Amino acid sequence: MSGDGSQYVSQQILGAGLVIAIDGPSGAGKSTIARLSAAELGTRFLDTGAMYRALTWYALQQGTDLNDPAALAMLAASISLQVEDVPHAPRVLINGRDVTALLRSEQVTSMVSRVSAVPGVREQMIARQRQLIKAAQESGRGIVAEGRDITTVVAPDADVKILLTASEQVRQQRRQGQLGVGTDAVSARDLADSQVNNFTTPAPGVELLDSSDLSEEETLEAVVAIVGRVFKARHA
Ligand code: DC
Repeated sequence: MSGDGSQYVSQQILGAGLVIAIDGPSGAGKSTIARLSAAELGTRFLDTGAMYRALTWYALQQGTDLNDPAALAMLAASISLQVEDVPHAPRVLINGRDVTALLRSEQVTSMVSRVSAVPGVREQMIARQRQLIKAAQESGRGIVAEGRDITTVVAPDADVKILLTASEQVRQQRRQGQLGVGTDAVSARDLADSQVNNFTTPAPGVELLDSSDLSEEETLEAVVAIVGRVFKARHA
């Protein structure tokens, strides 16, 4: 999108260090929409799912027992994880190695819910996510952060909070259409993930955006419009 809408909003929020939190189920288009929104708005971008995926990939590499919560929590505390939160080329590095391209494999996708359900793992990852969000906020750049618990746990005080959903059928179709993604049983993964966080009904102060009948462009426009509206209301 290069319309006046996003240019206007990005100028309005320049230097304000806005925190924009987007949650939703898998396949709702969160990562793409959040990344494009960040690019349009000139903010940083944080894909928190990529962090859980990176830890899962590393655990598999290390031969860590995925049924051992204490071992996973220890790994989460000690992993050398670097997250580059730039929207044009977000990368995740472990011990200096760029693992971004490896994170959406079928193996990682099928195991990640098990790893992300471990409380000790979440504690570590949430602390890292809050640090990244705080840095972006304090620099004035702002950030779009996406995941399952950003609006409720990681950044409940975010300036803008959105729950991005789509019907199950649409989500499954979108996942299958993504390059480099193996089989992803989105409903099974959502069922497992929803034992940990509620990302199907919006918490108070969270805007619900259903993208089932919207194109990517239209969804992006809707997110930018929400950001513009919230910012304007706050500074009226
Ligand atoms: O968004 P994604 O599919 O890349 O996320 C991968 C997994 O990580 C997902 O199955 C649930 C988990 N996750 C989480 O528990 N909390 C988050 N904030 C983000 C992702």
